[in-house]
Amino acid sequence: MKIVVTGSNGFIGKNLLVHLKRLEGLQLETITREDKPADYKVKLKGVDIVYHLAGVNRPQNEEEFTKGNPELTFHLIKAIQENGDKPRFVLSSSTQAEKDNEYGKSKRAAEEAIEQAVQEGVLEGVIYRLPGVFGKWSRPNYNTVVATFCYNVAHGLPVEVRDPSYELPLVYIDDVMAAFIKHLDETIEPGKLKKENIKTLFKVTLGELASIIKSFPESRKSLKTPKVGDTFEKYLYSTYLSFLPENKFSYPMELKTDNRGDLFEWIKSEEFGQIFVSTTKPGITRGNHYHHTKTEKFLVIRGEGVIRFRKINSDKVIEYPVSGEKPTVVDIPIGYAHNITNTGDKEMITLFWANEIFDQQRTDTYFLEV
Ligand SMILES: NC(=O)c1ccc[n+]([C@@H]2O[C@H](COP(=O)([O-])OP(=O)(O)OC[C@H]3O[C@@H](n4cnc5c(N)ncnc54)[C@H](OP(=O)(O)O)[C@@H]3O)[C@@H](O)[C@H]2O)c1
Repeated sequence: MKIVVTGSNGFIGKNLLVHLKRLEGLQLETITREDKPADYKVKLKGVDIVYHLAGVNRPQNEEEFTKGNPELTFHLIKAIQENGDKPRFVLSSSTQAEKDNEYGKSKRAAEEAIEQAVQEGVLEGVIYRLPGVFGKWSRPNYNTVVATFCYNVAHGLPVEVRDPSYELPLVYIDDVMAAFIKHLDETIEPGKLKKENIKTLFKVTLGELASIIKSFPESRKSLKTPKVGDTFEKYLYSTYLSFLPENKFSYPMELKTDNRGDLFEWIKSEEFGQIFVSTTKPGITRGNHYHHTKTEKFLVIRGEGVIRFRKINSDKVIEYPVSGEKPTVVDIPIGYAHNITNTGDKEMITLFWANEIFDQQRTDTYFLEV
């Protein structure tokens, strides 16, 4: 199957090419700004699907809208017609096509060219009227305000919000990709133009958008993860991280070190509690306390140890030997004094999960020897 992607150096085009390259049995061809209309016929010969993503969004002067949107589309249709192939043609139009601005008018003219070509039996047509698209490889101050905010926050630059109450509809690049890829394998009724949209649409005000993105750097200090249970925030956080400068990927943990070893908190969340990590020297015991509500999971991933329990109103001691050789999670029920001892001759590394974020004012931790 031969696929031609126009605008393959742009934000959506770059993402689409990565997805297409992973699939087997596709012959890929691209049309970029370097190609002249005279080259299109050769590039399009034998094509099965065209993803037409080339377009002009923010030109120096408004005439470029006509050149980059309808005229380019006419040239492509003409080349297809001359070749005599009847490909599926997926056009990435814009919700602006409903509006009366120059960009909108040029997008609508490109849509009409496709509609006519479908009626004349030149191609099969699929049109997406996309709202703002956000995701990795979008350009700041160009493709989307999400890219601008993410870039600025990731680079420590100020974020300018002119109208915080302005609401914008957004879709995420990977949802667009999933929808686009489906057109590789579908049947379209002859002469019928397909009008598509992206199912998952997010609506957010500029003020909310700025506030969420501005909270991301703080999460490294508070250790609180962004709200990844919220799909929009999850997508925004992924997009934000894609804008981090390459020398800013890492951040240090704050170690609490004493004669037992090290301990540091790693990740916290109101939804799932927190994760912390310890190293324990040979022969050393940690713990000897119980909780009323706080529950934990202990997971030794290096070294050897034993976790001991005693119900606080009983003398019976229970032992769970643990080893990094066979990582095993041990639940710590409430009402049991518990401890963990390094029984090996090397450092022991333990991962801990707790059901709540540690609160110095309400530790729910009571000293008691096992
Ligand atoms: N991103 C969005 O939020 C969004 C929303 C709605 C609709 N759309 C539409 O979706 C399409 C892709 O958007 P995008 O965000 O990926 O835009 P983009 O990053 O600007 O990519 C468009 C690509 O098309 C190229 N191009 C422009 N005129 C061309 C021509 N005459 N011949 C060949 N290539 C040409 C551009 O090259 P240069 O870089 O050299 O200009 C650029 O590489 C566009 O048609 C856009 O209007 C995008």
